[in-house]
Amino acid sequence: MLYKNLEITLHKASPEQKKEKPDQDKLGFGVHFSDHMFTARWNREKGWHDAEIKPYRDFELDPAAMVFHYGQAIFEGLKAYRGKDGQVLLFRPKDNLERLNRSALRMCMPRIPTERFLQALKALVYLDREWIPEAEGATLYIRPTMIATEPALGLRPSDEYLFFIINSPVGAYYSEGFNPVKIYVEDSYVRAVPGGVGEAKTAGNYAASVKALTEAQKKGYTQVLWLDAIERRYIEEVGTSNIFFVLGDELVTPPIRGTILPGITRDSVLQLARDWGLKVAERPVTIDEVIEAAENGTLKEAFGTGTAAVISPVGEFCYKDRNIVINDGRTGKLSQRFFDELQALQRGFRDDVHNWVVRV
Ligand code: COI
Repeated sequence: MLYKNLEITLHKASPEQKKEKPDQDKLGFGVHFSDHMFTARWNREKGWHDAEIKPYRDFELDPAAMVFHYGQAIFEGLKAYRGKDGQVLLFRPKDNLERLNRSALRMCMPRIPTERFLQALKALVYLDREWIPEAEGATLYIRPTMIATEPALGLRPSDEYLFFIINSPVGAYYSEGFNPVKIYVEDSYVRAVPGGVGEAKTAGNYAASVKALTEAQKKGYTQVLWLDAIERRYIEEVGTSNIFFVLGDELVTPPIRGTILPGITRDSVLQLARDWGLKVAERPVTIDEVIEAAENGTLKEAFGTGTAAVISPVGEFCYKDRNIVINDGRTGKLSQRFFDELQALQRGFRDDVHNWVVRV
């Protein structure tokens, strides 16, 4: 089926349908939504069709829609930035849509036409450009999502899907802002198993993680550090982010081999580190190695990377009632450098040698 020319209908919100914009210094994360959304439907007969940009509104779905019962749902997260001279910029958007297609493959969902949906995404962001906050650290978070909509209760891949994109003006993901967070090393619950769906950005991974998160929060921690499901030794991710350590003079992150989400911020950090001539390794890291490094003084920094949280320094870990403080609980130099560099790149203040930045 040819989707290159898939027609996208535009219905602009009337002045009455437009919403009041939130206060820029009280944005929070993902609680306000812009005036428009993009939607498209898929079925076996027509492929992708009914593509439209229209005012943000509720969906009407059959209670038997398969997403409600068996969780065929995948999503992405990317951001629009206000650059110099008011330019509207996106960061590696094609990588997000391609990753959505890899998630789709794993979850038996249809591929999206990435070029065409990127055009739709750009048109949507352009239409809602006044929703891109200008305050420092604030951005417009873009959430492309696909759900199974066929009303059927037999377990199999749905024959109908809805794809949509919504936009949310956001501030920092963590209430700590860009400040070190306290992390609980989770040695009971796991996030993903070999052969499972850990590498896909599918809703169930996030649902399954909430219990560990709430228990860690009750103990006074912001997030959990996930260990592998088999030995509970290998470090996998931190909360909803990838994890990096500075061990001696080496920047280390666990390798992508089925249970870890291939983060786009993770990939950007690895590339920047290589550009800067740093020693970089994608290799298995155990919690024992990290504790030993903390004890002998070679654990210099730890930080999470993700679209929502950008760079999130870790100030402290708790592992089996033992507290490990990193860099005296302060933001490390490298964490700060990556944060500053990414922000500058994303806002168009750097020479974009990797062609990561896309103008809307
Ligand atoms: C992101 O970092 O974009 C995510 O998808 C994580 C989500 C929990 C906000």
